[in-house]
Amino acid sequence: MILLDGKATSASLQAQIAAEVDFFLDKGWRRPHLTAILVGDDGASQTYVANKERSCKKVGFDSTVLRLPASTTEEELLNEVKRLNRDDSVDGFIIQLPLPKHIDEQKVIEAVSPSKDVDGFHPENVGRLCLGLDTFISATPYGIITLLEEYGIETRGKHCVVLGRSNIVGRPIANLLSAKARPGDCTVTICHSRTQNIEEYTRSADIIIAALGVPGFVKADMVKEGAVVIDVGITRVPAETEKGYRIMGDVDFDAVAPKCSYITPVPGGVGPMTIVSLMRNTLKAYKAKHNLA
Ligand code: GUN
Repeated sequence: MILLDGKATSASLQAQIAAEVDFFLDKGWRRPHLTAILVGDDGASQTYVANKERSCKKVGFDSTVLRLPASTTEEELLNEVKRLNRDDSVDGFIIQLPLPKHIDEQKVIEAVSPSKDVDGFHPENVGRLCLGLDTFISATPYGIITLLEEYGIETRGKHCVVLGRSNIVGRPIANLLSAKARPGDCTVTICHSRTQNIEEYTRSADIIIAALGVPGFVKADMVKEGAVVIDVGITRVPAETEKGYRIMGDVDFDAVAPKCSYITPVPGGVGPMTIVSLMRNTLKAYKAKHNLA
């Protein structure tokens, strides 16, 4: 069993990005600039945004976090989005999800200029991904694809079972892995909360992508010997730690790992790859703006 080390892989990608930034600075250009909008005070969202900020620092990007109260109206948020669309000093921006219930998430996503949509959530960018066109690939699927690529894992002709059908992970990763590409060329099955006899699918999987958000869902008897298992889960479960919780993946790691050819740990697998992928998208937006891509 080989651990897919997202921490080490993302560190090496970060170093490559930092070197590119140095190259641009040497030419007298400004730094790439990512802005995150955080609405409300959800603990997990605050942590994610803080991690994104830290990663920006590491690669030499400017970063701004726009913290708005939970009482922010949809109109106020849409006005901020319009302002950032016009702000030439910002290459890309994200709106951390989930948003408070009174705000229509889809409406906000659709207000982002596709050229600054480094999350890749805008329908134009999602459509481009579905068609195999150049686009901002949303960060988690991008991170997963990169990890498979970096470890030289063969995907062609393999059966990949995706657990979860979210717009952020399940759907785009299913699309990418079924595409005529490398990594890609998989036969993909998407399973979800209404799938019957889910274990019948997972047992035939060469690759399992677990993105359900149900801690420990994937058990040893659901996994074929030699499978590749990618765990996207990052649920906070109460625990007697300093913070009062620990992060649990969707896979029962201790029981499943011995059966796998490759498996991602949680934390240290997909998480760091997601963040570095957002940095890559921001660099892509910066380069496109400066006609460098
Ligand atoms: N919430 C959970 N994942 C993400 C993500 O990739 N981007 C944003 N903006 N919000 C999220």
